[in-house]
Amino acid sequence: MTEKSISEMTGKFIVFEGIDGSGKSTHAKILSEWLNSNGIKTLHTKEPSQGKIGILLRDYLKVKTSSGRVDALLFTADRAEHLEQDILPAMKRGEVVVCERYKYSTIAYQTTQGEDTDWLIGLNEFAREPDLVILMDLEPSVALKRSEEGEKFEALGFLTKTRKNYMKFSDHFTIVDASKSKDEVQEELRRIVGDFLNL
Ligand code: TYD
Repeated sequence: MTEKSISEMTGKFIVFEGIDGSGKSTHAKILSEWLNSNGIKTLHTKEPSQGKIGILLRDYLKVKTSSGRVDALLFTADRAEHLEQDILPAMKRGEVVVCERYKYSTIAYQTTQGEDTDWLIGLNEFAREPDLVILMDLEPSVALKRSEEGEKFEALGFLTKTRKNYMKFSDHFTIVDASKSKDEVQEELRRIVGDFLNL
């Protein structure tokens, strides 16, 4: 990539979505390191965030019986804080933000919990639309083998419904087949993000 393409770049907001175990963390980290090593200042972040609400939320998720409504409000409150404190300031500095999970996680997961999809969309109306959303798509049975067991939402039926809920918004996503090898997936991601950023 040329000096010119680096200096012309303004802040961009890239989001990774997908069910638990689809490889978001692994690939977001490697991709962010690749961008940084190519001179593109990149903030790698995630939701639930490392802020106060995010920390409280992780603790709260251990209560496996909590309701979808409460979960949606907490995830969305965390998002409001995360946007104000981290995402928007980094974009103003001209950085690329790579974020694991964002509003489509709330829309897909909390719909699976029984909440009304339109209510969830409305609740998240304040949340700036990302510039690029990559959906890491994977069979839930394969994803479950890859992820830590016992987390609140990690059950085959739950993740199968959540994958379908994500697909209702497929128009908003660039979909990546996450069943391929780690190297193949990362290569495809670099191509997609490289094209997107005109690198
Ligand atoms: P996860 O990405 O697994 O975080 P960590 O790897 O730090 O444990 O997120 C925790 C769980 O929360 C995961 O099962 C997805 C779920 N989740 C929602 O249900 N709604 C949301 O809005 C978000 C951000 C996450």
